[in-house]
Amino acid sequence: MLYEKILDISKRRGIVYPSFEIYGGVSGFYDYGPVGKRIKQDIEDIIREYYVIGENCFEVECPVLSPESVWIASGHVKNFSDVLTECSKCGEPYRADHLIEEHTKTSCAGLNSDELYKLIEKNKIRCPKCNGGLEMTYPYNLMFQTYVGAGKDKITAYLRPETAQMTYLPFRRLYEIGRKHLPLGVLQIGHSFRNEISPRQGMIRLREFNQAEIQFFVDPDNKKSANFDKVSEIRAKILTKNNEEFEISLGEAVEKNIIKIQMIAYFLGISLRLFEDIGINKNLLKLRQHKDDERAFYSTDTWDIEFMSSIGRIELVGISDRTDYDLSAHMKLSRQNMMVNYNERNFVPHVIEIAYGIDRPIYCILESTYTEEKDRMYFKFPKRIAPYRIAVFPLVNKNNIPEKAIGIFETVKKNRIYAIYDDSGSIGKRYARADEIGIPECITVDYQSLEDSTVTIRDRDTKNQVRVKVEGILGRLI
Ligand code: GAP
Repeated sequence: MLYEKILDISKRRGIVYPSFEIYGGVSGFYDYGPVGKRIKQDIEDIIREYYVIGENCFEVECPVLSPESVWIASGHVKNFSDVLTECSKCGEPYRADHLIEEHTKTSCAGLNSDELYKLIEKNKIRCPKCNGGLEMTYPYNLMFQTYVGAGKDKITAYLRPETAQMTYLPFRRLYEIGRKHLPLGVLQIGHSFRNEISPRQGMIRLREFNQAEIQFFVDPDNKKSANFDKVSEIRAKILTKNNEEFEISLGEAVEKNIIKIQMIAYFLGISLRLFEDIGINKNLLKLRQHKDDERAFYSTDTWDIEFMSSIGRIELVGISDRTDYDLSAHMKLSRQNMMVNYNERNFVPHVIEIAYGIDRPIYCILESTYTEEKDRMYFKFPKRIAPYRIAVFPLVNKNNIPEKAIGIFETVKKNRIYAIYDDSGSIGKRYARADEIGIPECITVDYQSLEDSTVTIRDRDTKNQVRVKVEGILGRLI
């Protein structure tokens, strides 16, 4: 199966692998190895380019741990839970909705704990592991709780389940720094934590994961984008909350009131473009509107972009209208004023949120770019996200060839280009190793290089080789 092949190569070649392996691992935690970390860094940089440069956003970085009051105000202490059931015989925990959905193949979105238990009883669902009976369901909060400080200073704290909340807290300060202008866009990239109930899907459902979330603070009367015409022609597959499915341009979807908020449509378009740029197969993407009973407690309209993968649909980004829910909630509990005076009106700004995961898109890139040919496999990564732009090989390890190759390798790196040097095994094996981690081009220094200062450059996708002058290498790479 494609999923297993990808996980196997990811482990072997240092893309991602389970954390704490020497202690048996804990599901929901993955390490980025040397190759995966390079890819992740490039993706984060592309998101920065899209939002900090392209959309004039600020970028901030806030703590991952915060006091309980933040999460009481935001509603997460009360509402951020999934429904849990456990096997009365072997103790195995299950997310009730997922278990029922697997069994009945129908959606349980929006059902509460009692309703889910009734479905377990009605469908006579038993523990898939030992066939034991399932216990009464109950809501299970997904936040990791801990403490800060000691003695009388000790306070309850939580690891953040989303970066978003931490971006809302300094809103007043950011509004001043941004010279009191709306819309004000703020990006935050970092770790979030959710104590997911027995995650079984590798890097798709993690307990510690990476998000890149952008909060646009807007005038509630103006949720439009000045640049909508730049994405209005983009066509997309859409699944509405009423289960209607069709393909349409974003412009038409807004005109026909299918996507009611133009800003949401705009960022759906931007996200489709971004996903294509990082190598995700655009033909497998779908825009899906959340049903009324499925939406997060803070949102009045949410659209996801999902990838139709070999293991089912994967949500990559959620774009929501969070209204003034969060700022008003923090204003109430902190008693700090979050209102602005803008265009001679007083209001609490609304928030349009674009919430990307980073880990899931990386898996989807791996699926989208995985290519098998009869004698080899490779990842067809776009150059921008390839872990290394180039590999440099000496044909043999003698006769001044390594010295020449190392000289080229050092020159490339001095120009801030990520490269690797490989001098072990046959050239064929070195090409295969470079292909496996999607390096777009390989330079080989051979005997002719010593005579006329040329090298061969071999293309990953076509396997074609061209001979170029050493002075011409940088020009090709930059
Ligand atoms: N601030 C809004 C928010 O957090 P979300 O839909 O819960 O919204 C946004 O999360 C994105 O974060 C998702 O689209 C997904 O890509 C990623 N994500 C959420 N939970 C995840 C998990 N357990 N493991 C990996 N990625 C996750």
